[in-house]
Amino acid sequence: MTVDYRMCARRLLRRCVILFLVSVQFIQSKDVTMVIGEVGGAVTLPCTSDIQRLPNHLYVQRPDPNKFINGYHKTRDLPSPHPEYANRTQVDHTQGTMRLWNIRLSDEGLYECHIGYPTKNNQKNIQLRVTANYSIPNVTVACDNGSCLVTCSSDNGYPRRDVEWSLNPPLNQSHWGVVNSSGGTDPVSMLFSVFSSISINCSSEPRLNLSCAVGGALSQEHTVCRHPDISVISVISAVSVIAAVLLCFLVLVSSSKKKKAQTARGNQGGKGPASSEDSKKRNRNRVPPLILLVDTHQIILETLVN
Ligand SMILES: *[C@@H]1O[C@H](CO)[C@@H](O)[C@H](O)[C@H]1NC(C)=O
Ligand SMILES: *[C@@H]1O[C@H](CO)[C@@H](O)[C@H](O)[C@H]1NC(C)=O
Ligand SMILES: *[C@@H]1O[C@H](CO)[C@@H](O)[C@H](O)[C@H]1NC(C)=O
Ligand SMILES: *[C@@H]1O[C@H](CO)[C@@H](O)[C@H](O)[C@H]1NC(C)=O
Ligand SMILES: *[C@@H]1O[C@H](CO)[C@@H](O)[C@H](O)[C@H]1NC(C)=O
Ligand SMILES: *[C@@H]1O[C@H](CO)[C@@H](O)[C@H](O)[C@H]1NC(C)=O
Ligand SMILES: *[C@@H]1O[C@H](CO)[C@@H](O)[C@H](O)[C@H]1NC(C)=O
Ligand SMILES: *[C@@H]1O[C@H](CO)[C@@H](O)[C@H](O)[C@H]1NC(C)=O
Repeated sequence: MTVDYRMCARRLLRRCVILFLVSVQFIQSKDVTMVIGEVGGAVTLPCTSDIQRLPNHLYVQRPDPNKFINGYHKTRDLPSPHPEYANRTQVDHTQGTMRLWNIRLSDEGLYECHIGYPTKNNQKNIQLRVTANYSIPNVTVACDNGSCLVTCSSDNGYPRRDVEWSLNPPLNQSHWGVVNSSGGTDPVSMLFSVFSSISINCSSEPRLNLSCAVGGALSQEHTVCRHPDISVISVISAVSVIAAVLLCFLVLVSSSKKKKAQTARGNQGGKGPASSEDSKKRNRNRVPPLILLVDTHQIILETLVN
């Protein structure tokens, strides 16, 4: 029961938050123009779309606290720009715009354009959103004992983004999972770095292609869970070939030795039925190495098949 109540309350809260966010967005989108700029890049803030008439004055400032950024006045001198914006802006009153370059994260926020015509004054609010592209993620793979640990890291991005993993073919959630993830800001640039590592159980997939992405930056594709048997098989076959060659060699050597011994004994004067019995025994003695050879081949084949 208590669990149900808690869940209910949580759902209600979530709904309220969503409603609040939606309403805030709605209020904002009513009279705020959204402009997106990249860290280090440049944007043009559109203060008016009415360029038929030349304004008497046009200036841009930021509220809370008020910072004068730049402007134009037909007859008066304007104050010097706030030091944060020195040498980074240019106002074009004929186009009704202000250009801002060398964008910093601290530039994110609300800007007010004040435009004065002989008959009326206008104000336009512009919201500047600043982004920074995350670096192409680095991926490292470490496989051991039928499982792989894969890490993905990317840095210097804004705003905060999560690492997204993509496994091809898709793997059942019970066979992989995030084991470690973290994120942090650089104290100087205030840009984000993110890190995520996953563990993959290779028992169900012999081969898996995977990549990770952070805010649109996509890593290279990596193949994991390659069957180690490929290398094991090649080692086994190499060993078996060497063993077979060695056995053939041994058989040849032993049979030639026996031939030599036979001819030597024949020269010593062994004659009659006794000597023919002897040679029969020796012929029988030649067989065991061949059986051994066949047995070894069978053993090798069985190992390969398994
Ligand atoms: C802006 O440029 C002027 C002239 O080039 C220079 O004297 C001044 O130091 C610069 N200000 C900043 C904050 O870089
Ligand atoms: C950032 O990413 C966007 C979209 O992928 C791209 O258009 C833009 O050129 C990138 N900026 C930089 C500085 O690489
Ligand atoms: C490999 O995994 C098995 C079971 O998951 C475990 O019993 C064994 O100790 C592991 N071997 C190594 C070398 O980690
Ligand atoms: C990615 O790897 C390169 C080269 O090894 C390195 O310079 C860079 O810092 C790495 N980036 C991250 C986010 O780890
Ligand atoms: C994923 O694994 C779980 C538990 O091992 C299993 O019950 C489920 O059927 C699997 N799903 C798929 C799509 O294979
Ligand atoms: C998670 O990753 C961080 C950074 O690499 C490392 O310092 C930490 O020990 C890791 N934690 C675990 C539980 O693996
Ligand atoms: C991998 O999955 C198999 C079943 O598919 C399971 O028997 C095995 O214990 C799992 N290994 C690990 C390390 O979770
Ligand atoms: C994995 O990548 C390799 C090389 O890019 C490709 O040949 C193979 O078809 C891919 N496998 C899957 C399941 O997409």
